[in-house]
Amino acid sequence: MEYKYAKEKLDYSDYSSGRVFHSLPGHPAFPIRLASEIFQRCLEHRNTIYDISTPCTLYDPCCGAAYHLSVLAYLHGEFIREIIASDVDEKAVELAKRNLGLLDVAGLERRMDEIKTMIDEYGKDSHKDALKSAHILKEKLSEKHPVVTKVFQANAMNGEEISRNIKPRSADIVFTDVPYGLHSNWDNSDHAVSFNPLTSMLDSILGILSPSSIVAIVSDKGQKASHEAYQRIEQFQVGKRRVVILRPV
Ligand SMILES: C[S@@+](CC[C@H](N)C(=O)[O-])C[C@H]1O[C@@H](n2cnc3c(N)ncnc32)[C@H](O)[C@@H]1O
Repeated sequence: MEYKYAKEKLDYSDYSSGRVFHSLPGHPAFPIRLASEIFQRCLEHRNTIYDISTPCTLYDPCCGAAYHLSVLAYLHGEFIREIIASDVDEKAVELAKRNLGLLDVAGLERRMDEIKTMIDEYGKDSHKDALKSAHILKEKLSEKHPVVTKVFQANAMNGEEISRNIKPRSADIVFTDVPYGLHSNWDNSDHAVSFNPLTSMLDSILGILSPSSIVAIVSDKGQKASHEAYQRIEQFQVGKRRVVILRPV
């Protein structure tokens, strides 16, 4: 895959997972350059297909720690009005709240106090680097308009749970990095083993999409993101990840 937007390999160390942003134990962080590329492609499709360039409501139904969502708000906040995040796992939801809480100055200052306490207790260079990064994030935040955030617990395959928390037709871009591989598995407990979780998730989010929504799904090659109510706009492979961008029809 050739990068169209995030063409240069930038130094994203201030956004590293586990530095200022909290990491989900046992989960590798989603690559920031790839997240930036996918999000900008979604914006491009929204613009070229539907001629819409207003800031979007961005939703992730398998948000984990909401790490990639939080970083996107720093990198592309001018294009984001609201971020909505949900996950089936209670611990992930708590962490997502903490990470999305770093999108406002008060939340970031609380995090800086936590890091200062760790510096006093342990004196580690990694904590001192984290504090420097937090100051850099704070400067960036002051240049940006505030992003509204909402986090809730829901199964991505349960349309009722999702619709109870998100207004109909209100999600402009859905960008989700679904479970795959060794680190994270689908919580499929409500369904038969033969069920395709991606099809079920695509079904569940239909009610909160508008006719001009764009849906980007990152999975492994083994999972098929297809559904009769969606049309595929593009698909590409990056290492072990498959990225599919769809629109409802
Ligand atoms: C690869 S992780 C997402 C990490 C996220 N992109 C980040 O940057 O922090 C996938 C997430 O899907 C969640 N998950 C698994 N089954 C789910 C389900 N049925 N509904 C919603 N979330 C689910 C897991 O709890 C996990 O947090």
